[in-house]
Amino acid sequence: MKRTLRGFAPILLGAAIWPHLLTAETNAASLFKAKCALCHGEDGSGNTPTGKAQKAKDLRSEETQKKSDAEIAEVIAKGRNKMPAFAQKLKPDQIQQLVAYVRQLGKK
Ligand code: HEC
Repeated sequence: MKRTLRGFAPILLGAAIWPHLLTAETNAASLFKAKCALCHGEDGSGNTPTGKAQKAKDLRSEETQKKSDAEIAEVIAKGRNKMPAFAQKLKPDQIQQLVAYVRQLGKK
């Protein structure tokens, strides 16, 4: 009985971790945390040492929120001034998820 359990443990562990790895990749919040928070802060305020140095925009501001989804997606994809371009690093649907996430930040 003990031997069978030991044999199963790695499989059970793998099954428990795998879904987390999958959601981490598709989840907009963790995407933002991984790729954007360095400059924009987890709350989108830009209130981080790097954000202040680079003059990152407050993504919650009216200035950002009054932009269209297409304009926001374009800045993320192509970059602007110190804002890096993400078209090579993110898939188009990930950029769309981030646009939606930027909207959510503005509502908080
Ligand atoms: C290296 C720092 C840095 C990183 C990383 C970064 N940004 Fe930026 N971002 C900036 C800066 C600086 C600006 C202001 C650009 C300007 O002055 O035109 C900006 C501007 C923007 C704007 C435009 C806001 C407006 O009102 O025009 C959006 C949207 C944006 N960033 C989203 C993101 C998203 C989403 C990510 C993650 C995929 C991200 N940024 C990652 C530095 C960064």
